[in-house]
Amino acid sequence: DWTMGAYREQMIATIREQVGDKRVICGLSGGVDSSVAAILIHEAIGDQLTCVFVDHGLLRNNEATEVVGMFRDNYNIQLIHADESDLFLGELDGQSDPETKRKIIGKLFIDVFQKYADTIEDAEFLAQGTLYPDVIESVSFSGGPSVTIKSHHNVGGLPEKMGLKLVEPLRELFKDEVRALGRELGLPDSFIGRHPFPGPGLAIRCPGEITREKLEILREADAVYIDQIRKHGLYDEIWQAFVAILPVRTVGVMGDGRTYDYACALRAVTSVDGMTADYYPYSHEFLGETATRIINEVKGINRVTYDITSKPPGTIEWE
Ligand code: XMP
Repeated sequence: DWTMGAYREQMIATIREQVGDKRVICGLSGGVDSSVAAILIHEAIGDQLTCVFVDHGLLRNNEATEVVGMFRDNYNIQLIHADESDLFLGELDGQSDPETKRKIIGKLFIDVFQKYADTIEDAEFLAQGTLYPDVIESVSFSGGPSVTIKSHHNVGGLPEKMGLKLVEPLRELFKDEVRALGRELGLPDSFIGRHPFPGPGLAIRCPGEITREKLEILREADAVYIDQIRKHGLYDEIWQAFVAILPVRTVGVMGDGRTYDYACALRAVTSVDGMTADYYPYSHEFLGETATRIINEVKGINRVTYDITSKPPGTIEWE
């Protein structure tokens, strides 16, 4: 007789037995998997758990505050908010090659995580929100090219380097089961149903050089776009939706004047697992209304396009 309630109790016992009176560090990304793992471990061992939330300055509007607030206020989990945006944006300054940008972010992420983890005395375990499909995927790809989708957040190689043992309470679960467990643990539906957000964050939605100005424009446009999607009741039908700011400025007219501002692309796809995807068939009315809102409400954008590429041949993200 298998229920989520029973799984929860069983995992709590397993975690207690594995960890004993030692300390556990958990990297929080703000995503569902690491959040559910952290909350479950916190139920098992309370203050023996410390979470580290690495803020690389590439998050969406209010995202850091929301994640940090939820864990500190609602769950009372010990949490280090590592605001390292100056470091990340500094190293990314002037870089426009997609792979170089990803490598910089991946390396800094590990450095930063390690720096904060080193401040936690007697840490013996590293918690990760690894799911069953991640386990399968990393096995089948081992030795091959580094194509694991989540290599960035499942801080590969870090546990060995730091001499930490792994705690992976979600290793037997599929995504829908993790969501069910999250509900069981009291996470709000709005959080559990959130679209996936990539580890490198807005960096891969800002093709070309990343500047603070572009990031700010991108954040505002993304917020308007997601607001539109929610208002039209489409959020749960779409697997992932976001804005990419394009590395080009174009000419427009506004009132009596000429504008010369950035163009952006809206993206929305349906998918089961992110491996393949179809672009979402919005109505022209929705697209027109959204374009008008973005151009009127977001200073710095004067042209909106809709990306109608499916995957394959496109990827979901722009980089
Ligand atoms: P692509 O762009 O490869 O994206 O079609 C497929 C899914 O994976 C997400 N994605 C990432 N997630 N670290 C992550 O944690 C990454 O480096 C990364 N790259 C892409 C993307 O948002 C989509 O859901």
